Amino acid sequence: MAKVVFDHWLHRSQFTCRVCHVDLGFLMKKGETRMKAADNMKGYYCGACHNGEKHGFDPPVFKACSIPPAPDEMPRCDRCHSYGKDIKRKYEFAKFTEKMPKASLGNGIDWEKAETSGLINLKDNVPGTPLIKRLMPVQKDFSLESKGSWMGDILFSHKKHAKWNGCELCHPDIFLGVSRGATKYNMFQIYEGEYCGVCHLNVAFPLRDCMRCHVKPVK
Ligand code: HEC
Ligand code: HEC
Ligand code: HEC
Ligand code: HEC
Ligand code: HEC
Ligand code: HEC
Repeated sequence: MAKVVFDHWLHRSQFTCRVCHVDLGFLMKKGETRMKAADNMKGYYCGACHNGEKHGFDPPVFKACSIPPAPDEMPRCDRCHSYGKDIKRKYEFAKFTEKMPKASLGNGIDWEKAETSGLINLKDNVPGTPLIKRLMPVQKDFSLESKGSWMGDILFSHKKHAKWNGCELCHPDIFLGVSRGATKYNMFQIYEGEYCGVCHLNVAFPLRDCMRCHVKPVK
């Protein structure tokens, strides 16, 4: 089988990060989840949605692995096992994102704006499963001090982050979060893929976009 290609852009336009990285248990490091065809066939990981059944999806989402496959199932395998193959897709990036607000870095889309302007509508559960309501109050936006004198302080919005990530994607694993300042970290660790860098290296807007975080003017 060819390697599997997974697109964040398509999936994040429909679901919060939380659904996959908390509820479904995908780890946030390429290749680390070590899922197998058998897991998908039992309804875990990709198979939670890609099960060919209706549940909450209408129309159903094409099924993931079947072993052994019937001969007429092979074209379906190629939709995911597509690395290095020239397959026909249902969604093309350029066309799909044509009307989305643009950003100069990352994959070129301002996802925050796409969400707040209602262009995309995020589901926070796998359709057909109960939505567990979280009653935690959202903390106020706050600033984080940039200890280098030449960069402005950072404004961190809990409200905007909670929309995509819930609380549990960050607390307690990425930020202990019991009180501000309890977790000590710096820009170097962020570049190494820790703290904000867990997401802002390759899925959320990238670190090169300094001023989107360091928004406060230097005094
Ligand atoms: C439909 C499910 C799904 C959604 C929604 C989703 N992810 Fe992922 N994500 C995955 C999978 C699958 C992987 C790869 C895991 C593996 O290979 O073990 C992954 C990997 C990652 C990685 C590691 C990438 C790398 O190159 O190592 C990061 C960071 C990440 N996701 C962040 C996010 C963020 C932030 C969001 C929301 C904006 C998000 N994900 C939404 C399924 C999803
Ligand atoms: C939370 C639900 C969910 C999970 C988990 C999920 N997907 Fe999807 N995926 C979807 C939906 C919904 C679509 C759109 C289906 C459609 O419109 O026909 C889709 C579409 C796709 C497509 C079709 C792209 C195209 O343009 O034809 C591929 C490929 C894909 N997913 C791969 C994966 C892989 C690989 C995984 C696991 C690593 C995965 N998905 C996990 C919901 C999910
Ligand atoms: C929705 C996406 C998707 C579709 C469609 C799909 N697969 Fe998979 N398949 C995966 C993922 C994800 C893995 C795990 C691969 C990884 O982590 O590198 C996998 C792994 C496999 C493996 C590797 C061995 C193993 O036990 O993990 C085989 C063999 C396989 N699939 C067969 C098939 C066949 C045959 C079909 C078509 C009938 C198919 N798959 C369709 C997503 C898919
Ligand atoms: C994107 C990651 C992220 C998400 C999602 C998130 N937080 Fe936080 N939270 C932080 C950061 C960063 C801090 C500051 C941590 C530090 O400096 O140690 C923080 C701090 C806190 C604090 C301490 C505040 C203070 O003033 O001392 C509380 C309480 C908290 N978060 C609750 C929540 C709740 C409740 C949710 C969900 C509604 C949530 N967080 C979602 C990243 C996040
Ligand atoms: C769990 C993943 C995750 C972590 C950790 C995370 N972010 Fe984000 N952040 C996102 C996602 C997803 C968005 C939506 C926009 C996008 O994807 O580009 C976002 C958007 C933002 C925005 C734009 C929205 C706004 O508030 O104006 C800023 C600024 C930001 N993040 C700063 C930070 C900072 C600073 C940290 C660390 C203290 C951090 N983020 C940690 C996932 C994360
Ligand atoms: C995703 C948000 C984010 C982005 C993007 C970002 N930073 Fe930071 N930066 C932070 C946070 C959060 C801190 C504060 C860490 C702490 O508590 O000391 C910080 C701290 C710093 C500091 C203070 C010294 C240190 O190591 O903590 C410097 C200098 C800095 N950043 C430079 C940059 C530059 C240059 C860029 C662009 C190339 C950049 N940052 C992009 C979030 C970001």
